[in-house]
Amino acid sequence: MPTYDALRATDPEVHAIVSAERKRQAEGLELIASENFVSPAVLEAAGSVLTNKYAEGYPGRRYYGGCDVVDSVERLARKRAKGLFGAEHANVQPHSGTTANMAIYFAMLKPGDKLMGLDLSSGGHLTHGHHLSYSGRDFEVVSYGVDRDTEQIDYDEVERLAVSERPKLLICGASAYSRVIDFERFRRIADAAGALLMADIAHIAGLVATGLHPSPVPHCDFVTTTTHKTLRGPRGGLILCKKAHAKAINRALFPGLQGGPLMHIVAAKAVAFKEAASVEFQQYQQDVLANARRLAVKLESRGFRIVSGGTDNHLCLLDVSSVGLTGKVAEVALEKAGVTVNKNTIPYDPNPPMVASGIRLGTPALTSRGMDAEAMDQVGDLIADALLAPEDVAALSTVKGRVEELCRRFPLYEGLD
Ligand SMILES: Cc1ncc(COP(=O)(O)O)c(C=O)c1O
Repeated sequence: MPTYDALRATDPEVHAIVSAERKRQAEGLELIASENFVSPAVLEAAGSVLTNKYAEGYPGRRYYGGCDVVDSVERLARKRAKGLFGAEHANVQPHSGTTANMAIYFAMLKPGDKLMGLDLSSGGHLTHGHHLSYSGRDFEVVSYGVDRDTEQIDYDEVERLAVSERPKLLICGASAYSRVIDFERFRRIADAAGALLMADIAHIAGLVATGLHPSPVPHCDFVTTTTHKTLRGPRGGLILCKKAHAKAINRALFPGLQGGPLMHIVAAKAVAFKEAASVEFQQYQQDVLANARRLAVKLESRGFRIVSGGTDNHLCLLDVSSVGLTGKVAEVALEKAGVTVNKNTIPYDPNPPMVASGIRLGTPALTSRGMDAEAMDQVGDLIADALLAPEDVAALSTVKGRVEELCRRFPLYEGLD
């Protein structure tokens, strides 16, 4: 476990910032659905001397000497990723989920080609065709949403749209969608529309790796993910695809989009893939799911509306307009109470994204520090108490005290200064 003694001596200013962030993570409730706490082993690999090595290219075909050692870690990471997800090919070099997605588009599409993805306000991601992202700027975009009543994907409607629009690439996957995604159905839709199919499982990768969410791998041409959300690895991306596309994807990423891979992060990904194949991780993912359901039920019992009526995965979307708030106000009130969340639009939101009518709550991070069903009930009460008195400084400070008390019962990175 790193102790940061050298950092303290060399740069007390940065040491103090790292220390303050560690304290913030330990003493607050982290409910951002896309965050997690990596294991000490992942942290150690990510902070290792592999950061020193330049290794442009791929194992056995590098543009630099001295790559034999790092070749072995990249080969190991690829082998573990393929084993974990049952994929034919893995590229472990994407610096992020965004770059992983970009590699697929740049490999398979030409500027102006049509892609089709879930709309941001229905839970999709910026890189699925939003106009502010390269994906919406360089390509023609058709978006699908969710049904107004069920707030879930209407597969018949997606099929109708895909068949009439005939996108070259159909994208499934989401950032803020709490229901099971039917990848098999998406395959049938892609086939009917003559489209390639890509699943972005950035959020649910840990559930997919443990069989707790159906896998897109048998059905999709490409699967991309981040490694740092439910998968509990270092910040980064991963591409899985059929062997037939391997060469094009590898080339699109390097030299197409990136330079030298971050070999310390590739090593940390390898560690995370090993951990994700363990019995303990299976149990962890089951707990993540159970905790998300428990939290949603608790909040519903306190008068909040849950978008789509519940959750099948690690997150739920809380419609805070059901108690007269905006997502923006809710986020600020919760932050004052030591609870970190992000405001989020809800389907057909009348508010713009920077205001939003909802907040997104995820349980991966709290579950990583050992929180259980009973703790979720307390977390639900703490959130409700804060949101029912969002302007009451004294009430929020009382909640903060209770948050810190709960956090002390579930220590994080003990011994790390
Ligand atoms: C579905 C989805 N895809 C891609 C990304 C982008 O990942 P990154 O932030 O690593 O670029 C995210 C991140 O939130 C995501 O939720």
